[in-house]
Amino acid sequence: MAQKQCMEAEKYPSKVIKFPQKGKVERCKVIAVTSGKGGVGKTNVVVNLALALIELGKRVMILDADLALANIDVLLGLVPKFNLQHVLTGQKKLSDILVEGPRGIKILPASSGIMEMAQLTESQKLILLNGLDGLEEEFDLLLIDTAAGVSSNVVYFNLAAEDILVIVSPEPTAITDAYALMKILFTRYQEKSFRLLVNSVHDSREADEVYRRLSLATERFLQISLDYLGYIPLDDNIPRAVKQQRAVVEAYPYSQASRSFFQIARSICQLPPAPFPKGNIQFMWQKWLECSQK
Ligand SMILES: Nc1ncnc2c1ncn2[C@@H]1O[C@H](COP(=O)(O)OP(=O)(O)OP(=O)(O)O)[C@@H](O)[C@H]1O
Ligand SMILES: [Mg+2]
Repeated sequence: MAQKQCMEAEKYPSKVIKFPQKGKVERCKVIAVTSGKGGVGKTNVVVNLALALIELGKRVMILDADLALANIDVLLGLVPKFNLQHVLTGQKKLSDILVEGPRGIKILPASSGIMEMAQLTESQKLILLNGLDGLEEEFDLLLIDTAAGVSSNVVYFNLAAEDILVIVSPEPTAITDAYALMKILFTRYQEKSFRLLVNSVHDSREADEVYRRLSLATERFLQISLDYLGYIPLDDNIPRAVKQQRAVVEAYPYSQASRSFFQIARSICQLPPAPFPKGNIQFMWQKWLECSQK
């Protein structure tokens, strides 16, 4: 068996083939966390899932890709000195602008830097893609906190990621906006696969009902698959932690919300890896840059 693996490995560059190790994600998995309606809990989900995944032994990076608001640093009380703009102008290396948060979590503050991505020069694209080469080896998971809605940047990040995690709350407008987002990604960009996380519910029945309504509509009117990843209960400990600029899994690890975040983090660890190269950080950026030129 080992001999067969060695022979196989010789056929491929070592970066491409990594043989499965128990409990390890082989390549960096890229997950975009998105929503139709704003304010449904994306940033909280990204930060808390990331910290829960770190607790489970994963190496996690967050890309704060919300252009208008620097979400992650506000939530965690961090003040990044540099952003992607400094990388693109050659002042900093990508690894220099990473901000470290609780439990050593790494955050790539893109916010005010990627506004002009569609206008990047060839050399700036190269700077970015080369810089990402090193990061690829250092992380098991990249979680992207997108802005809400269907602006072009949001669409590109979703298309470039391996998994799209749609966050929805039980509010009727959040449900219709989630449907509208998936519809646009399917009809305009042929994206067929989504995962759903229902946030701010009173109980599992309410979450099941939201999933049922959305999956009925997506199956009936669109040919897309919607996988249910789980739910996070409505929990006062979340706004309480937000006020302290801490993640709820850190501030209130035994709260209902924190337990749910850990449960979902465990489910994420079980997700199958996508076939190469989808799911790789460099591939994600390459695709992002290609999409944004169209
Ligand atoms: N499960 C929950 N229970 C209670 N409050 C919650 C829950 N999830 C999120 N919130 C609250 O909802 C508010 C919005 O959350 P968050 O900022 O994560 O949303 P968002 O989708 O990232 O918003 P935006 O679209 O503006 O980026 C926060 O103040 C947070 O405290
Ligand atoms: Mg946000």
